[in-house]
Amino acid sequence: MKTATFALAGMLGLAAGLMATPGSATAADQLVGNASAGQSTMESVCALCHGVDGNSMDPQYPKLAGQHANYLAYQIESFKSGQRSNSIMSGMAAMLSKQDIANVAAYLSQQKTSPGPTNSYEPALGKSIYVNGIAAAGLPSCESCHGADGLGDSNKMYPRIAGQHAQYVMQVLTGWHNGEAWGDSPHAKLVVEVAKKLTIEQIHAVSSYVQGLNAGK
Ligand code: HEC
Ligand code: HEC
Repeated sequence: MKTATFALAGMLGLAAGLMATPGSATAADQLVGNASAGQSTMESVCALCHGVDGNSMDPQYPKLAGQHANYLAYQIESFKSGQRSNSIMSGMAAMLSKQDIANVAAYLSQQKTSPGPTNSYEPALGKSIYVNGIAAAGLPSCESCHGADGLGDSNKMYPRIAGQHAQYVMQVLTGWHNGEAWGDSPHAKLVVEVAKKLTIEQIHAVSSYVQGLNAGK
């Protein structure tokens, strides 16, 4: 059963010319989440940093509201397995069962992302990087994977980034720029290669643009 799923996911990936997407391989294994149980977990454990509905007030903590359920589950599993390392989140993820993860992911994916303050730092530069990339540096546009509205694509496990705190986006991109990675899968490397090609100044500008992307919803 499992082998068949993997083989099929592989064929589809090949047909579409994609690299291995973690979501397509695990979709069949995913549990159905119970959103109200997920809300209880958020209230009792996660709200301190992420807010009850996943709209964190403190910009060092990512907003989780409105993120794709499969992406949330994938990231929590990654903290659990150590593929993505963070001292706070590995402890949090260790406490959650597969069902808890599915519940939290279902609840959060149904919440509305709070709008981010509009683009303020080097707005023209940030927009240009997001929309066009930088051809001379071999940099693809952010839009080519995350979409013009920043809503990503759950089928390809491309996260929603619209409205995310600029401080968090900067933190993540700067880490990748400096050689960190969320594991060594081809999927994780897609955006790491992008971050390596950006300067810190460009990261600052594009992070500000991402925070101000509120058009999608
Ligand atoms: C003490 C603060 C704290 C608590 C409590 C906490 N988190 Fe986090 N969370 C963080 C930090 C910090 C990060 C960013 C880690 C990094 O930079 O890699 C994060 C990242 C995440 C991410 C990845 C988001 C992304 O955009 O990639 C998810 C999903 C997440 N947390 C879910 C949860 C859930 C579910 C709980 C409750 C069970 C929880 N967190 C509790 C601090 C916290
Ligand atoms: C080739 C496709 C691709 C391009 C181009 C790309 N990304 Fe990504 N991005 C991804 C993937 C895939 C992930 C998830 C990585 C993982 O799961 O380890 C991601 C994750 C992210 C995250 C972390 C989201 C979170 O909270 O977990 C941010 C922030 C981000 N990208 C911003 C950008 C910006 C800004 C650009 C343009 C400068 C960009 N990306 C260009 C594919 C891409």
